[in-house]
Amino acid sequence: MSYLINFDTRKLPVVDCEYLILGSGIAGLYAALKASRAGGEVTLLTKHTMIDTNTDKAQGGIAAALGDSDSPDLHREDTLMAGAGLCDRDAVKALVTEGPDRVRELIEMGAVFDCDECGLALTREGAHSRRRILHASGDATGAEIQRVLTQSVRSDKRIRVLENHYAIDLLVKGNICYGAIAFDQQEGRTIVFRSKATVLATGGLGRLFEYNTNPEVATGDGVALAFRAGAEIMDIEFIQFHPTVLALPGAPRFLISEAVRGEGAYLRNGSGARFMPRFHKLAELAPRDIVVRAILEEMAVTGSGEIYLDLTHLEPAVVRSRFPNITRTCADHGLDITASLIPVAPAAHYMMGGVKTNLHGETNIEGLFACGEVACAGVHGANRLASNSLLDGLVFGGRIVDRARRYLENCSGARPEFSCDWLLEPEKVDFFAIRRELETTMSRKVGPVRNAKGLTEALEFFERWSYLGSHQVETVDRMEVMNMLQVGELIAEAALMRTESRGGHFRIDYPEPRRRWQKHIILRK
Ligand code: SIN
Repeated sequence: MSYLINFDTRKLPVVDCEYLILGSGIAGLYAALKASRAGGEVTLLTKHTMIDTNTDKAQGGIAAALGDSDSPDLHREDTLMAGAGLCDRDAVKALVTEGPDRVRELIEMGAVFDCDECGLALTREGAHSRRRILHASGDATGAEIQRVLTQSVRSDKRIRVLENHYAIDLLVKGNICYGAIAFDQQEGRTIVFRSKATVLATGGLGRLFEYNTNPEVATGDGVALAFRAGAEIMDIEFIQFHPTVLALPGAPRFLISEAVRGEGAYLRNGSGARFMPRFHKLAELAPRDIVVRAILEEMAVTGSGEIYLDLTHLEPAVVRSRFPNITRTCADHGLDITASLIPVAPAAHYMMGGVKTNLHGETNIEGLFACGEVACAGVHGANRLASNSLLDGLVFGGRIVDRARRYLENCSGARPEFSCDWLLEPEKVDFFAIRRELETTMSRKVGPVRNAKGLTEALEFFERWSYLGSHQVETVDRMEVMNMLQVGELIAEAALMRTESRGGHFRIDYPEPRRRWQKHIILRK
């Protein structure tokens, strides 16, 4: 089915709301609950169903300094170390000091985390100096958090949830955000959502890459929307690749949690040799960017292109009970992980950068807030510490509301009209083919190993399609491709600009960090 979109807001149905929240992962849901508890009326739009989120897929867990031998200070040190010199120290402080209370709140709301004889069962992941990762049902932590928050939101009368509503554009005039226009995919109509405070919580962009761990919805829409509206985009060149994603022919690229290595699994090369101890003192638990590059180097050196995760030395019963989801998924593809090596490869996982915010989620546009993966408060620097992302969503999703409440009290309540002159959809453009080429271009030229030549070629690809930017397209699939083109170009542009290697950004032509680049790249239309 295809629909034509009319961009004159005087001719469109209008829904008025106080808070408009875009996205239904941990950050959006928690912000919605917090806004409602503060007396706000919330409308929450989500692109597909409420549970089509990265949160729901998260396996390993949520990090918080809750163990006896742990402290927020230690958590802060580990986060700063992983962030490779680009973390905002105040943002990290807020994350690690407020995090434990936010997690306790989740538990009070009904989230059930795994326990052992000492209380909460805490595991380790890469670059953590302590066991501090809470997990649920072994390796289904995100699904448990999503379940609890979804239920709470659904039973809250002050929150209206509209699924299958795709945000097309933000309504911004004079640097003030007045809401968004969205496409109701079920009814086939475009609606104007006029709001006082608009919160972007649209998640990440893993789907720009051929191999990724993200759900289908993760096409970078929030960054594209914000950029078009004039928001500042920060650190977008830093993309985290997860080292261990199932690489079994015919099987989906399914995440094999870092917690597997946290519980003692080894990485082996194509000759069966363990190699991580040669690369880092933390061996398999080195920061992710280091593990990814070690894997790629090992693949190249041995020439086999094969890397394996080995759990065969671990107690089979422990493996099955600790990782039921991974055990089952691999078994569905004929692999018994207690007896055989798991073939793995790196895949795009998380964006460290995003819409620049302060510590209260405020962007440079009045009335526009951002939280979760789409936002960049500088908490992850150049490389996110494992399992800090769910915590980020909770802490900063909640922080927004304190500031937004004040904003609501003082905002003028003006309701300007908007109209746009878009050219109609161009004929004979194969959006499906563009998307495939975009994914391979991003993977090969803007992936975990970059250089000036590849990045320039990637920019040439984006330049070829830049004329599409002044057209309006008719379907959500195509709008996604338009957003992906916009965001891919931003990543390639910033990656070309940053002539050094740091965290999730590795340039083979500039393989070391450079002091003069210990700064952020901020892009703005
Ligand atoms: C994992 O389980 O390995 C993913 C956790 C994360 O990305 O923080």
